[in-house]
Amino acid sequence: MDDPRIIIALDYNNSEQALVLAAQLDPKLCRLKVGKQLFTIAGPKLIEKLMQSGFEIFLDLKFHDIPNTVAGACKSAASLGVWMVNVHALGGRKMLLAARQALPIGTTKLIAVTLLTSIGPDDLHEIGLGPTPEQIVRRLALLAHDCGLDGVVCSPLETAYLRTQVDSNFHLVTPGIRPIDASIDDQQRIATPRQAIENGATYLVIGRPVTQATDPLRTLQQLNKEITSVS
Ligand code: C5P
Repeated sequence: MDDPRIIIALDYNNSEQALVLAAQLDPKLCRLKVGKQLFTIAGPKLIEKLMQSGFEIFLDLKFHDIPNTVAGACKSAASLGVWMVNVHALGGRKMLLAARQALPIGTTKLIAVTLLTSIGPDDLHEIGLGPTPEQIVRRLALLAHDCGLDGVVCSPLETAYLRTQVDSNFHLVTPGIRPIDASIDDQQRIATPRQAIENGATYLVIGRPVTQATDPLRTLQQLNKEITSVS
């Protein structure tokens, strides 16, 4: 598989567990996501080890700062050789453009988080934003598109609408994926892998359904089978 659509979230607090899981997976079938918890403890060394095993890495650090600082952080991430990084679209146009300039198209992919899914209407009102989370998500996704980013992170339930607003090369990276027979865990707005791809998702971020499976590789193979039948 040249461009695996599944990104496995390595939500661990130590590199040992991350490496044990990675050793059970196949870089032809997935990429790996390293977030703040794991990166803060394990750092660039872990990224290097995972890449030596053949995996491409989505470094999920959600940069949000003044344009100059975010541009520098993006360059540092790119120097690790990671496949994808992300920033907060709430950082605004100047910050997004600075990040894009730091990562020219065709190098490390640059995507934006729109609004965190943990933010509800009341939280939004409290910080003086509105009117609704959906409208902010749409506005920020279009801003990221306009600034030339490679894509956004969005819930599987937003993908169908966003796909009608952006060109087909714009990546919609979608967490909240649960196979039909899997536990929902703490996710709420979920879709099956097949539904997410049908709605226009480019990449699916999947954590516990694979990391906690008794046979992670077999689960990954089944997930890929399900989505290649639609894509
Ligand atoms: O285990 P699970 O499949 O729920 O993991 C999903 C991953 O996607 C986690 O790393 C989580 O932090 C991330 N994520 C999410 N919802 C968002 C953004 C990121 O679940 N809106």
